[in-house]
Amino acid sequence: MSALTALMEDSASVTVVLVFATLLFLVLLFKPSSKGNKYKFPPGPRPWPIIGNINILNVQQPHDTMCKLSEQYGDVFTFHMGTRKYVVITGYEAVKQALITQAEEFGERGITPAIHLFVKSKGLVFGVGESWKTMRRFTLTTLRDFGMGRSTIEDRIVEETQRLLDVFQQHQGKPFDPTVNINSAVSNIICHLVFGHRFEYDDPVFLQLQRRVNEVIQLIASPELLVYNLFPKLGAMLADVNKIKENLEKNRSYFGSVCHQHKAELNNNDLRSFLDSFLARQKEEESRNTNTYFDEENMVVTIANLFAAGTETTSTTLRWGLLFMMKYPHIQEKVHAEIERVIGKDRPPRYEDRKSMPYTDAVVHEIQRFGNVLPSNLLHQTKEDTTFRGYHLPKGTPVIPLLTSVLFDKTQWETPYEFNPGHFLDAEGRFVKKDAFLPFSAGRRACVGETLAKMELFLFFTALLQRFRFHPPQGIRSEDLGLSSLPGLTNLPRPYELCAAVC
Ligand code: HEM
Repeated sequence: MSALTALMEDSASVTVVLVFATLLFLVLLFKPSSKGNKYKFPPGPRPWPIIGNINILNVQQPHDTMCKLSEQYGDVFTFHMGTRKYVVITGYEAVKQALITQAEEFGERGITPAIHLFVKSKGLVFGVGESWKTMRRFTLTTLRDFGMGRSTIEDRIVEETQRLLDVFQQHQGKPFDPTVNINSAVSNIICHLVFGHRFEYDDPVFLQLQRRVNEVIQLIASPELLVYNLFPKLGAMLADVNKIKENLEKNRSYFGSVCHQHKAELNNNDLRSFLDSFLARQKEEESRNTNTYFDEENMVVTIANLFAAGTETTSTTLRWGLLFMMKYPHIQEKVHAEIERVIGKDRPPRYEDRKSMPYTDAVVHEIQRFGNVLPSNLLHQTKEDTTFRGYHLPKGTPVIPLLTSVLFDKTQWETPYEFNPGHFLDAEGRFVKKDAFLPFSAGRRACVGETLAKMELFLFFTALLQRFRFHPPQGIRSEDLGLSSLPGLTNLPRPYELCAAVC
């Protein structure tokens, strides 16, 4: 009998061998690969096996956890989402360095398993590589051609504000929730650019599209989605994942049918919208037989992206704005006084007016800062191996450039946790720009709709305050209004009612 057979016959020895083999297996499993060794990640909380740092994450408000950790670990730290290392960048200086100074290296979109499941890196918001670059360039040029940032779209916004004012006035000063109407008014601006038409506020198709977008934005940050990102195999069992998929598919199916309708009616000599231009470009590339990014999927996903991104953030900011005006009536009064002095009552506000209205302009900026609608930003990732502040990160490292930490950075704002329009005014009451005002982020992935959103915010806000004084329903004092937000990808105010009394 060989020595080995003798050993195997001894059951105690078998146990020893098994324990040893298991330990060896675990050591090999958790040992950083030789590839990992040439990289150096910033410090961060100690991770647990499998779950990483999820045990300390405030799932409802993840940016709160990140801000607290930055006090302990500094401006750049590592957070383990399960077994994946995320690098979190906080504070104005560090975020600026990553997104602006090292724009190329930090300019790729981070893709989680959930995002991959829903959009497969197509379209604009979650697009990557050459496809994204082509979609972004085309979108910026085409939206500008159709008037984004210019007087053509300004006329459209002014017209839409008048309809919104009429709808508000129908409530005759009685309490109502303004969410759906504001959403519709704002959405009509991007619909005009993208499809060349607007919807009536009570159109059930329009309301369904908006409802689905809002539901997706809330669910995408739900605990179930976090579980999906850690264990994608559980996908089919998670109700929120299925609900998001269903909503996205229904909206895309509608946008797909609009695309086909526009395709059938396309006239190259009369391109009326972003969608027409996309179709014309698609046709051109097809006729040249070139390998094209202007395919059906990029068309539908980009349109869905513009519809969602062009509605939700701007309308949420306006809702915060009206809530702040009710909460701080002395600030609302100053805005009324400036509108009365500069514009009066006989004509609608124009974008040019902001130059003579420093206080109102400062209030609109402070609404964006304090409203903080995209606190965690969208996820980025390193495009290549990247050295940053002494750390060396591999290509593909997910990066969170935390916008909330910039908008509330103690080194940049006098009273970060106070609603204070003075942040944007000098001692003489003139408007001053602030470098740390980055609600649209910065760099290669910065918001495509910044100029449009700024124009919309100023015009809608000023028109609403020109016509109405806003106050809480009877029995609720201004100072009792809460400012806590709902969980979700965007920082949403909790639903509230307001009274709009004609001035
Ligand atoms: C107050 C309003 C808005 C805010 C605060 C806002 C903010 C942002 C932020 C923070 C990002 C992510 C940037 C990054 O990844 O670093 C973003 C991306 C984007 N936004 Fe906006 N946005 C607003 C309005 C709009 C509007 C009106 C449009 C419509 C044209 C729009 C279209 C987009 C698109 C397409 C992207 C993806 C860009 C890319 O990945 O290349 N946004 N926005």
